[in-house]
Amino acid sequence: MTIPDPILLAAASEVRLKAYAPYSKFQVGAAIRGRSGRIYAGCNVENVAYPEGTCAEAGAIAAMVAAGEIEIAEILIIADSPAPVPPCGGCRQKIAEFAGQGAPVTLCTVDGQARDMTVAGLLPGAFGAEHMERS
Ligand code: THU
Repeated sequence: MTIPDPILLAAASEVRLKAYAPYSKFQVGAAIRGRSGRIYAGCNVENVAYPEGTCAEAGAIAAMVAAGEIEIAEILIIADSPAPVPPCGGCRQKIAEFAGQGAPVTLCTVDGQARDMTVAGLLPGAFGAEHMERS
């Protein structure tokens, strides 16, 4: 059974309650532990122009980068979902930008379910900088 990191779980749970989700009513929280050990949190922020909304993961990544860090050691995502909430496709690519392939990604529900994955497991065959290289 996956036991989520209590610090990441607390940070993601707390920020989730601040999510601005009047349209979907689906609040999401994300917490990152950077390589330094510092914790960065983010929530989804929706917009009446629906595609302009941003995901919780994007908010947490933005907080990390704004603080001067660019390496995700670990990330946890939580929502009031029937099963541990999987990050959307765009967020998988955003996470992969800043995390190693083996970095743990913990998917949680508010009722205590949790599932451990890795960045590689979330985004197999990811597009990376190496695909833009020519010999
Ligand atoms: N959402 C996230 O914040 N992260 C995800 O990985 C999945 C979806 C948000 C976006 C939108 O505000 C709401 O959940 C419903 O899609």
